[in-house]
Amino acid sequence: MSGSPVIDKRKLMTGSSAGGVGSGVGVVGGGVASSNKRPRMDTLGGRGTGPIANGPMHPRPLVALLDGRDCSIEMPILKDVATVAFCDAQSTSEIHEKVLNEAVGALMWHTITLHREDLEKFKALRVIVRIGSGVDNIDVKAAGELGIAVCNVPGYGVEEVADSTMCMVLSLYRRTLWLANMVRDGKKFTGPEQVRDAAQGCARIRGDTLGIVGLGRIGSAVALRAKAFGFNVIFYDPYLPDGIEKSLGLTRVYTLQDLLYQSDCVSLHCTLNEHNHHLINDYTIKQMRPGAFLVNTARGGLVDESALAAALKDGRIRAAALDVHENEPFNAFAGPLKDASNLMCTPHSAFYSDAAMTELREMAASEVRRAIVGRIPDSLRNCVNKDCFMSHLGGGLGVADSLNGGGAGLMGVGAPFLPPSLSMAHTASHQEALAAASGAGAPHPAAAVAAAAAAAAAAVAHAQQPPPPPPVSLPIGGPPAPPHLQHNARELANHTPPKQEPAEVR
Ligand SMILES: NC(=O)c1ccc[n+]([C@@H]2O[C@H](COP(=O)([O-])OP(=O)(O)OC[C@H]3O[C@@H](n4cnc5c(N)ncnc54)[C@H](O)[C@@H]3O)[C@@H](O)[C@H]2O)c1
Repeated sequence: MSGSPVIDKRKLMTGSSAGGVGSGVGVVGGGVASSNKRPRMDTLGGRGTGPIANGPMHPRPLVALLDGRDCSIEMPILKDVATVAFCDAQSTSEIHEKVLNEAVGALMWHTITLHREDLEKFKALRVIVRIGSGVDNIDVKAAGELGIAVCNVPGYGVEEVADSTMCMVLSLYRRTLWLANMVRDGKKFTGPEQVRDAAQGCARIRGDTLGIVGLGRIGSAVALRAKAFGFNVIFYDPYLPDGIEKSLGLTRVYTLQDLLYQSDCVSLHCTLNEHNHHLINDYTIKQMRPGAFLVNTARGGLVDESALAAALKDGRIRAAALDVHENEPFNAFAGPLKDASNLMCTPHSAFYSDAAMTELREMAASEVRRAIVGRIPDSLRNCVNKDCFMSHLGGGLGVADSLNGGGAGLMGVGAPFLPPSLSMAHTASHQEALAAASGAGAPHPAAAVAAAAAAAAAAVAHAQQPPPPPPVSLPIGGPPAPPHLQHNARELANHTPPKQEPAEVR
């Protein structure tokens, strides 16, 4: 069966991205899409005051997953408001022109990087949602200046990372990994002496001090867990206001040196930024208690691996557990840490559970949905460049009215700010009614009132009609969309849609 077309090119050309952005909103249809250049935020306002496009708008904007193929979780969330395509690209040079020209929303993992020059290639983009918490692979400031809101998903996997951290802490204290490896390698434990010899170094937790660097979402979750194991928990986080230590029943220290000096085990949970690269280095390791443990599930750049390797070799650090590394993917057979036997490594997987992965993708897709049906940035929950975005929106607040017909000065990326059945025709009728009632273009007040009444009646009649069937151009599969119905952007662009039947996209 040949099926889901993917997109009605003609509609897209005249209405979609432009349509999504333009027509939904009263910008002259196609104005955005036909232009090769991203419209400047400060000039759009003028357009918004122009007449409403007198033609069908594309009711669903194009949303593209840039660096992946699987949209099966995102589809059910977006399918009634957007056409979803995937690009599976590792750089913008691999992204199809159609997406560059027409996508108003982008979802992305961490395997593609968007610098300013990459962002400038997108002509209609209004929102990028990172499927993850870090936005270090996006030039967030440039995006804001280009009128693109950038969002992340900060809350996912907090429990998983905290649990993984505790796994590592416990494994270091109880030597679980090393003992399990001995059993797997066939070592026989025939008496208490063998157990003692093998398990030497196992330490008691109760009464030891766990030092947490960075008491954010994950650091707090680790602190609460660690208390239950009998740890005395202290933390260092210079960015938090006083009082948090009282809420959580922790001890606060005000210098890193103090934390390192007091801790039997140090666990890193701060974000990596320009101030804390190699926070754990040769100098700070010397401030740690001799024989302390180190755990890092935050970011690899926080630890100087050469200094750590030296400290592991001479026992200044008894053992360490790392989920993140300076260079990823981590190669256990190369680099300074390759011979460290008292080291346990996992492949940046602390966040992962099947549930967290699903939650992450749902949260990311929901943010895109909010951008489409609501207003940018006010409807977004996790916009990381709101300030920059707003300051560059500047005098263009009128844009907002033009982009989603909402009139409150902020943008939505697509039509469905209004219910689909009310979108274009209703908006047009309503505007005509308002224009007529206000006398614009109507020489006689009575005629204006009559026209307004007629237009309002038409709008109501339109609103009462059942929603139109999904356009041929929007072949989004049923829930959950099988992978073969997820649209490859390349195929999307080349496909000629056959009438109404859903075409199979291979
Ligand atoms: N391994 C994984 O799979 C995984 C998954 C998610 C997050 N992470 C990482 O975990 C870390 C914590 O994430 P989060 O969601 O809790 O972040 P968060 O923003 O909620 O908390 C980070 C905390 O670190 C503090 N901080 C920043 N710089 C500091 C410094 N130099 N010294 C002490 N404190 C400092 C901040 O004030 C903040 O309270 C981040 O580095 C994040 O990238 C790892």
